[in-house]
Amino acid sequence: MNEQQTEKQEDIIKMFNDIAKTYDLANRVLSMGIDKTWRRSACNLAYNFYGKSSLDKIVDVACGTGDLMIDWEAIAKKNSIEITDIIGVDPSVGMMEVGKTKIPHRTFIEAGAESMPLDDESADIISISYGIRNVVQRKEGLQEFARVLKKGGLCVILEFTKNDKHDFPAKLTKFYMNELMPHIGGLVSKNKDAYTYLPESIESFITTKQMCEELKSVGLEPIFVKGYSLDMSTTFIARKI
Ligand SMILES: C[S@@+](CC[C@H](N)C(=O)[O-])C[C@H]1O[C@@H](n2cnc3c(N)ncnc32)[C@H](O)[C@@H]1O
Repeated sequence: MNEQQTEKQEDIIKMFNDIAKTYDLANRVLSMGIDKTWRRSACNLAYNFYGKSSLDKIVDVACGTGDLMIDWEAIAKKNSIEITDIIGVDPSVGMMEVGKTKIPHRTFIEAGAESMPLDDESADIISISYGIRNVVQRKEGLQEFARVLKKGGLCVILEFTKNDKHDFPAKLTKFYMNELMPHIGGLVSKNKDAYTYLPESIESFITTKQMCEELKSVGLEPIFVKGYSLDMSTTFIARKI
């Protein structure tokens, strides 16, 4: 990582440390609770695609306050799927501290997606919800996912990708994200900068099509790609070939 990238990545981590305590509340308010359905639907789909009733390990990268880890666990239980370990990885200690209060029985590791202290081919599923946009070294991050996944394992990504359409739904979601979100998020978190960063980071992020290309380039073959809620959030499921 060069100096500029290091500084950018450190600023992002600091920002999440700063908003950690209000992060969950802001999420619920800003998405009106819909973010929960996006995560749960991804878990259900992934378990169906994987088709096994016993898994060794799920790694949730950019786990933040642990919401997706909670969903992996609850939905596995509902479907009688056994999972030996669900591990959270995130470079923000503040976010993981909140997560640890919600799921104290789980393991959290302080690390970035681009360099994870995990064995080769050890995970059945690697997930990252609303995190890949914050990984400055994205290519290295995706390569890490491919390294740590077992052959046939699944990479599950939920993200707000850049919308290059100019139709009415695209204008509506952009208005919400650019004009309303910074004010509402700012009020809840008392940190308007963090919720101004959100639409800016989406605008400078890649499109759904580009994400599929990047996944393929590291040996992760997309098997499911779908936009939810006027394409605001996109779910990608890719299989390690
Ligand atoms: C928007 S939050 C998402 C948290 C959680 N996955 C969720 O769905 O609510 C983004 C997370 O990405 C983490 N993050 C930032 N840079 C990262 C990196 N290089 N590798 C992994 N996670 C990173 C932040 O610390 C933060 O917890």
